[in-house]
Amino acid sequence: MQILPLLIFMAFSLPVRGNSLETLSIHNGVNLKIFTVSDLKKMRGTKTVTVDNDPAYPQQKMTYLAAPVSELFSGVNFDSDRIIEFKCLDGFSGPIDAKRLLKNSPDSSKAFIAFEVLNSPWPKLKPSSEATAGPFYLIWDRPELSKIVTEEWPYQLKELNLRGKFDEHYPNLTPKLEKFRRGFEVFRTNCLPCHKLNQQGHGTLGPDLNHPYSPTEYMGEIFLPMLIRDPQSLRKFPNSKMPAFSKKDLPDSDLNALIQYLSHMARTRHDTKL
Ligand code: HEC
Repeated sequence: MQILPLLIFMAFSLPVRGNSLETLSIHNGVNLKIFTVSDLKKMRGTKTVTVDNDPAYPQQKMTYLAAPVSELFSGVNFDSDRIIEFKCLDGFSGPIDAKRLLKNSPDSSKAFIAFEVLNSPWPKLKPSSEATAGPFYLIWDRPELSKIVTEEWPYQLKELNLRGKFDEHYPNLTPKLEKFRRGFEVFRTNCLPCHKLNQQGHGTLGPDLNHPYSPTEYMGEIFLPMLIRDPQSLRKFPNSKMPAFSKKDLPDSDLNALIQYLSHMARTRHDTKL
């Protein structure tokens, strides 16, 4: 093949990413807005954000062009207890407090939507698949300030929806007793994006963790913490999508609180309307 046709062929066979067809939906509680990559490029506050410990690309220093989430919701009056729910292409979906996500102050982490730009795709997430974290990726500038955890970096993002209060939205997830509150918060941030509980939540990657049974009932106190720390140490298979939670992501005290919460939810399952 001559060089020119080869180059033309290569140009057309590149994965088309960051083009105008990719859209992000934002529901601000009143109306639905659709943003394209070029809308985000033009947005006030769009800038380059550098991420040192990127959950999607571990051990790589990444630089993104990104638009501030607070701008996407600008003009919206929200009271501080509301949640914003994210939805991703792969079924990862969960709530983040609106206050946390929209905060724009020098002493807290600031959320941005990174977008993949035409002809400069991001690296693949895994060598075995073409998928990247794009076309939209929720990232944080200075994540250490508000202690942002790995599961708060949803990639392949397609929607952000402003909703009401968490407890009104998910009455079956809130523990009856205050002492299980910490475990519930750990569950909400780290597990709910993939696992429903009592048939509530939008994550579809993993099984419901209390319906019909809880893993605290069939795995018990040895195997359940072992699975959470390293799923492959219990059941090994190459297509597993359950991440390992190291002590850095989930200190022992949080892991214990989480298991106490799951056991409590198993004991009180009959109180919920399923
Ligand atoms: C990114 C998605 C994801 C997150 C986050 C996640 N899981 Fe999972 N989990 C899965 C998937 C998918 C499976 C199915 C097995 C697999 O792929 O490894 C699973 C399996 C499980 C199982 C085994 C259930 C069974 O009966 O087979 C338990 C228990 C579990 N997860 C608990 C948790 C807990 C607790 C958390 C929070 C600390 C959590 N998971 C966070 C995706 C996730």
